[in-house]
Amino acid sequence: MIKFLDLHKINLPYQTAFQEKMQQVLDKGWFVLGEEVQAFEQQFAQYTKAKHCIGVGNGLDAMVLIFKAYIELGLLQKGDEIIAPANTYIASILAVLQADLTPVLIEPDAETYNLNPNEIEAKITAKTKGILVVHLYGQLADMEAISKIGLQHNLLIVEDAAQAQGLPFTGNHARAFSFYPGKNLGALGDAGCITTDDSELAKVLFALRNYGSEQKYYNEYLGVNSRLDEIQAAFLTVKLPHLDKENALRKSIAQRYLTEIKNPKISLPKCDDFQKHVFHLFVIRTANRTNLQEYLKQNGIETLIHYPLPPHQQKALPDWNSLSYPITEAIHREVLSLPMSPVLTPEEVSHIIQMLNRF
Ligand SMILES: Cc1ncc(COP(=O)(O)O)c(C=O)c1O
Repeated sequence: MIKFLDLHKINLPYQTAFQEKMQQVLDKGWFVLGEEVQAFEQQFAQYTKAKHCIGVGNGLDAMVLIFKAYIELGLLQKGDEIIAPANTYIASILAVLQADLTPVLIEPDAETYNLNPNEIEAKITAKTKGILVVHLYGQLADMEAISKIGLQHNLLIVEDAAQAQGLPFTGNHARAFSFYPGKNLGALGDAGCITTDDSELAKVLFALRNYGSEQKYYNEYLGVNSRLDEIQAAFLTVKLPHLDKENALRKSIAQRYLTEIKNPKISLPKCDDFQKHVFHLFVIRTANRTNLQEYLKQNGIETLIHYPLPPHQQKALPDWNSLSYPITEAIHREVLSLPMSPVLTPEEVSHIIQMLNRF
């Protein structure tokens, strides 16, 4: 069986280095907010060309804390409206809700699946104070157009870069990253971080992740406990230097899928510029998804669906269930994610392509 994602194989080349790091952390006997977290924060800031990096517990917390920090700074107020994509993973929406802000959903571009900038202005009201941009599947959203709208309407822009480690980011926006094990840069457990050039924001974030405290036992804010731990930070510093090489391998697999899959029943994702995609996921569309997924399984290929049900149709959000987002709903009915990772072999990729072409 070709696994959708073989996390054992992905982490195998780093095992010796992980064990050495693990031993170093054990020898130091310091497990929370120490030298390893600081080292990773410094290296990831440098890698993303950001002034500050704040390690946190996971990608969801990274986003929640950005919004909470803006509230502490007086730039957002509870109840403010945040434009957010209807077509995203639920975490993006939960982050807005957990910060007591109001998500206003908009439809994606039907070809890139990312926020459609042309849909934004119609949803802006006097209460709109921000835009949450998600770089879905690892593809850079149309930041030029979105930033322009943000500037015109004086809106904060927050980027959900959970699926997008390695993209060439531009613009002075706070970004949230997830290092969930399956991400392009994955830890061996939950982990996340925030990057920003804004020193005031960074200062609040460093406190918020640690009970709202800058100085131990003195609390400026009502914070949370969401700290990146030393062991995960140490593992991430082992993997970070290899991220670009691994993303290049993902791109070469995507290149093969895009040129060699030829089946009128299957739509391929649109990617005009390989600089703007890190192929966290390679997502095709088909009207016969159930059949295709079952056929691929019979032929030894595991696939997943990202995602089967959009946020507005989830049971957890009953007030939204009657809303209609036809583009988002069609995407959720038809998408199927093919195996995509730096450890897929050329033979495995050939088999996947051959089977798709025979479907
Ligand atoms: C688009 C998106 N946003 C946010 C998250 C949340 O990240 P985490 O699982 O680390 O909380 C994820 C991943 O799980 C994601 O894919």
